[in-house]
Amino acid sequence: MNLFVILAVLTAVCLNVAFSRRSSRKHRNYSREMCQAGDGSTYKGYVSKSAYGHRCLRWRFLENHHNYCRNPDQSLMPWCYVRRGRKIVREDCRIPKCFTPTPTPTPSPAVDTEVTCGERSERRMNKVVGGSFTPIDSHPWVAAIYNRKRFLCGGSLIAPCWVLTAAHCFEKGDATNIRILSVYLGKTAINETDAEREQSFTVEKFIIHQRFNASTYDNDIALLKIKGSNGRCAVKSASARTVCLPPSHTQLPAGFQCSVAGFGKERFSAWDYSQYLKKAEVNLISQTDCTSKSYYGDLITKNMICAGSPDWSTDACSGDSGGPLVCEVSGRMFLFGVVSWGENCAMKNKPGVYTQITNYNKWIAANTELSDYTQGKMYPQK
Ligand SMILES: *[C@@H]1O[C@H](CO)[C@@H](O)[C@H](O)[C@H]1NC(C)=O
Ligand SMILES: *[C@@H]1O[C@H](CO)[C@@H](O)[C@H](O)[C@H]1NC(C)=O
Ligand SMILES: *[C@@H]1O[C@H](CO)[C@@H](O)[C@H](O)[C@H]1NC(C)=O
Repeated sequence: MNLFVILAVLTAVCLNVAFSRRSSRKHRNYSREMCQAGDGSTYKGYVSKSAYGHRCLRWRFLENHHNYCRNPDQSLMPWCYVRRGRKIVREDCRIPKCFTPTPTPTPSPAVDTEVTCGERSERRMNKVVGGSFTPIDSHPWVAAIYNRKRFLCGGSLIAPCWVLTAAHCFEKGDATNIRILSVYLGKTAINETDAEREQSFTVEKFIIHQRFNASTYDNDIALLKIKGSNGRCAVKSASARTVCLPPSHTQLPAGFQCSVAGFGKERFSAWDYSQYLKKAEVNLISQTDCTSKSYYGDLITKNMICAGSPDWSTDACSGDSGGPLVCEVSGRMFLFGVVSWGENCAMKNKPGVYTQITNYNKWIAANTELSDYTQGKMYPQK
């Protein structure tokens, strides 16, 4: 009997397929109608037995007077009339439920673009927790670069897949083994893991400036192309955002207040580093001043800019090599420098020296193939 029903259904299916081959759309509707969706009122299949195994009787008021289970009256499920002894009663049918793919609650991850850079959700710049400590959300582009388990340098996220840093971080230059490098975004402390906010990456590509001079620190710039374990780059979040690049050769006036952030770990070991992200306000110093005898003289090339705190306080040392010097213009944060070098810390007339990023727009565009990000689109036009 069972076999008979199966055969009958199969035959019917084959016939129906044969006759409805005109369009695949019809075919799709057709297969959906062979199972019970919702209350089964759209069911058009061929089950003709009740859940109790009784044969369905022919319908009197339905077209064709067939005897398949149906739900013509908004019952809970398809049913049919069956004969029980002398009585005719209605019995429910058991129809296979339709497979409804549950809508996957994974919207494609939000990713920063060249027009959403330099924004941060955390706007408090002054008087943050613990004096100079700062939540990562106020500098969400700060990247932490590790060599195996050892913190190596800071960096800045300039596009979802690219971190800009300093060339001098990599002692071996071009011979650096990128397989032992890892990059973190959203980190608040270098020795702590915040799984909620952190994103970790391996390094897919490593580009160090071909004219980086390890004795003068000229052209102290490098790029890392990052890749997450899922193959994705940085996902936009309150603690991981891109910073804007200013247009080529843009300069801000001396005295302009900018901000440097980092874990303060690497540069000045004597400094009280706590491993937590810190930031400091620094003012840009004119090239004339910085190349003067009392400052650094001819150690400063045209690819460097200087910035320091007006009172030469220790704060100016809180950056890590490779970390960002950012300046706010029209409410957005632009990357103007990469922490490069400095003579000691908190010494009068010895400010921090930064790689002048606006000299490298073309170099960044050529190496990342992201010319949209290097045009400085978001910088206010005069
Ligand atoms: C058949 O499917 C199309 C879309 O795939 C739908 O618009 C149409 O209402 C369906 N027809 C029936 C009878 O379910
Ligand atoms: C680095 O710069 C110094 C001073 O300009 C120069 O003498 C030296 O040759 C440079 N080194 C390299 C590797 O270019
Ligand atoms: C991280 O380092 C700081 C300062 O050395 C220390 O206070 C803190 O307990 C460390 N955290 C962990 C998880 O080791």
